[in-house]
Amino acid sequence: MARKAIGIDIGGTGIKGALVDVKNGVLIGERVRFETPKGGKPADIAEVVRNIVADLPATRASMPVGICFPAIVKHGYTQSAANVSKDWIGLNADELFTRALNRHVHVINDADAAGVAEVKFGAAKKRNGLVIMTTLGTGIGTALFINGELVPNAELGHLEIDGVDYETQASFAAKEREKLSWDDWAARLQKYYGTLDRLFSPDLIVVGGGVSKEHENFLPKLKLGAEIVPALKRNNAGILGAAALAYKNSTD
Ligand code: BGC
Repeated sequence: MARKAIGIDIGGTGIKGALVDVKNGVLIGERVRFETPKGGKPADIAEVVRNIVADLPATRASMPVGICFPAIVKHGYTQSAANVSKDWIGLNADELFTRALNRHVHVINDADAAGVAEVKFGAAKKRNGLVIMTTLGTGIGTALFINGELVPNAELGHLEIDGVDYETQASFAAKEREKLSWDDWAARLQKYYGTLDRLFSPDLIVVGGGVSKEHENFLPKLKLGAEIVPALKRNNAGILGAAALAYKNSTD
């Protein structure tokens, strides 16, 4: 019998969810997607998450639910809010979603979830040493893995370079906002990944986020000591990783 869990990925523009086969790292059935409500307030997002779960095939109330969110998440509390409403800072997100769904949930950082998916099922499978997962989207998400073990809540997207929080310069949103060419964006990515490489000497860097499907346009332009590869699970990585962690949590 398949090992199943529900995965929900909350992002700055969309909220997606699906039922996941956590043994094989694949979605079961259709992915459900809704726009993120304007302002990204907790109650509005919880309502969308409730609708997503209601739209998925009926599941047992005991089925694990993993939710990933673009902020530091410690012991179920969201502790930062770079690209979402400041109301999330210090909020008991675990309780908010448990109430909304009437079942227990497991909440984690979105980049950590995406990294877990790549380590378990994707580009970093069976890779030892230090792996840094990065997601290029509205912000820059990062996750650290040492010999496959997650070191949670690394917020390296906010590395200060040239005196600024560099996520504001090198995220995919920055490329779009400033209408940067691939070459101009790659120059910023070189600065960002070059800094990561120099500070951490990772064995592997994985580049995720929707734009990673266009990796031929920018990854070959980067010159780094570390190996750098595109993510394999791309836009489903958050869902897959959140579901896998929730499943593991329910069996520990
Ligand atoms: C947040 C991180 C998040 C990343 C990607 C950053 O702005 O601080 O927690 O993982 O965006 O969504």
